[in-house]
Amino acid sequence: LVSSPQQREEEHADLVATLPSALEANGVKKLRLYQGFWIRDIHVPAAIALQRQFEPRPDDVIVASLPKCGTTWLNALTFATMARKAYPPASADHPLRRLNPHQCLPFLEGLFKGGREAELELLPSPRLMNTHMPLPMVPSAVPGCRVVYVCRDPKDMAVSAWHFLRRLQPDLAFAVVFESVCDGAVAFGPVWDHVLSYWRASTAMPDKVLFLRYEELLRDPAKNVRKLARFIGMPFSAAEDEAGTVDSIVQLCSFGHLKGLDANKTGHLDPLLPVPRDALFRNGASGDWVNHMTPEMASRLDKIVADKMRGTGLTF
Ligand code: A3P
Repeated sequence: LVSSPQQREEEHADLVATLPSALEANGVKKLRLYQGFWIRDIHVPAAIALQRQFEPRPDDVIVASLPKCGTTWLNALTFATMARKAYPPASADHPLRRLNPHQCLPFLEGLFKGGREAELELLPSPRLMNTHMPLPMVPSAVPGCRVVYVCRDPKDMAVSAWHFLRRLQPDLAFAVVFESVCDGAVAFGPVWDHVLSYWRASTAMPDKVLFLRYEELLRDPAKNVRKLARFIGMPFSAAEDEAGTVDSIVQLCSFGHLKGLDANKTGHLDPLLPVPRDALFRNGASGDWVNHMTPEMASRLDKIVADKMRGTGLTF
């Protein structure tokens, strides 16, 4: 039986109403503090359902990230790598040439929000899925399947989030977004707790969680695609090396290529989120924070993050 998003919300309305709340920086969506994480209120019922009902298969792969940290890119790279037998990356009719990367794999909280999780059961193995949820909201994922996580310098994440949120509220000041990042009250945040949930799992179970960095992907995408392919148990063969398959995947998923496609220039992300798809492809570089933050702001956020990371082995 499929329950509508409204039915699912009603099921947990009493609990959600008791949770501390905050508005997202652009004032559009309400966040609720659920088990230490700021989750959009429409996604709290999905988090509960994911915690209770998500049943991973051992060969599942989940792409996980905070918004604005490279989700779209990693979705594209992982999809292209996993599906390369069915869809050779250089082929003219590759799905990534006609669809937005997010349309190529299911979004877990989107399905669980609307009571549509049964759709996952219909997918053939190996399944590929995407989530922004911190690991405690999908506890069965590790060690139940494999997770590929991407993190990004929180300063660049903040700048990217500001540009994105401005698409819904053009006069939004950067300082407002910056403060929300520093306070931890961003969707799926605090940033440090999200990152650490996957970081700790990756150090404890490196064969279950692959921890990637946006900046490293930019520096050497081919090396990271090889790492990704090995991690998901689909390393590139000598014949694929000969054929230049890795470079084809990197090119297919490159910022310049994806940004120029009609599928990514037109339409909206979601009927509930009337942001044009081109908002996902803004700048595609690291270090843009210098253009938006004073040195004081940068060192303040760096210090907050460094304090939270102390003793974990992770640095930014
Ligand atoms: P910027 O706003 O800094 O440009 P997400 O997909 O998690 O929402 O992250 C969006 C960020 O990733 C944006 O950062 C966007 O430009 C960048 N991005 C999207 N596709 C990319 C690609 N193929 N290569 C590199 N960066 C990409």
